[in-house]
Amino acid sequence: MAEETPRKTVEELRNIFDLTGKVAVVTGAGGTLGHALAKGLAVFGADVACWDIKTDIMEDVVGEIKDLGKKVTASAVDVTDDASVKGAMEDVVKEFGQCNIMVTVAGIGGNRQPAETFNIDEWQKVIDVNVRGTMLCAKHAGAQYVAQGGGGKVITIGSVRGFLGHPGGYAAYGTSKGAVHLLTKQLATEWAKYKINVNAIAPSIFWTPLTQQVRDNPEMVKIFMARIPLGRAAELDDFVGACVYLASPASDYVTGLILSVDGGAVAG
Ligand SMILES: NC(=O)c1ccc[n+]([C@@H]2O[C@H](COP(=O)([O-])OP(=O)(O)OC[C@H]3O[C@@H](n4cnc5c(N)ncnc54)[C@H](O)[C@@H]3O)[C@@H](O)[C@H]2O)c1
Repeated sequence: MAEETPRKTVEELRNIFDLTGKVAVVTGAGGTLGHALAKGLAVFGADVACWDIKTDIMEDVVGEIKDLGKKVTASAVDVTDDASVKGAMEDVVKEFGQCNIMVTVAGIGGNRQPAETFNIDEWQKVIDVNVRGTMLCAKHAGAQYVAQGGGGKVITIGSVRGFLGHPGGYAAYGTSKGAVHLLTKQLATEWAKYKINVNAIAPSIFWTPLTQQVRDNPEMVKIFMARIPLGRAAELDDFVGACVYLASPASDYVTGLILSVDGGAVAG
């Protein structure tokens, strides 16, 4: 007879998305997606440390999380600065006692430019925020998880542009997101021994300051929509379910996944 695998009770199954008692860090929490994900994690029970380079833009998200009865802090953190990220992680541990979920949302689009004349300093800035920033936040979360005895979730934010090239000047942004995808798989592989899950969410397009350059160009909007089988830009809450899933026990056997939440954009 085949050996029986352990099963959850009905009560445990009902709670597989519950984040009560967990502490989440969300970077870029003052921005569009970061705000939505920080609030979404709190709705499912997590306490949240909000990080962004600008503190004044986090007032609304802090208020909304407080209204949900969850503990919340807001800190000025530059994700490209090792000392800033390390210090902020130490503050999280002081304030909340632990860290269990790191969501690396902070990112920039940069100016899209033709590759043959791309300003290399602007190219580097995109790589620094999107790749170095993701690495530093994952690194300090991972170190904390190991110090806590293992376990923990890291959720990075990739992009359809990390899978597919695009004629519209994406030599910096696309490269940065491709790197985020591989970094996610690398960390998943390296940290599996600590039971740390590392996964990415790869969105298609949603309307924020980061995509204003596209939105301002009706021809570009048409091209983008034609590439999305579901035929629309994402709404912010389209990403909440994926984030809660990857933050919760429901995804304990999932690691190294780049979860496309993209209206089918990379399907065909
Ligand atoms: N908007 C889209 O269509 C789209 C598509 C795919 C992926 N994404 C990704 O989603 C994430 C969020 O993007 P968004 O559209 O919500 O943009 P947004 O501009 O609304 O938010 C980004 C946030 O990151 C913060 N930030 C920038 N540099 C930082 C730094 N050095 N340290 C700390 N914080 C910093 C900004 O202050 C801002 O609050 C990004 O990683 C982006 O690449 C966006």
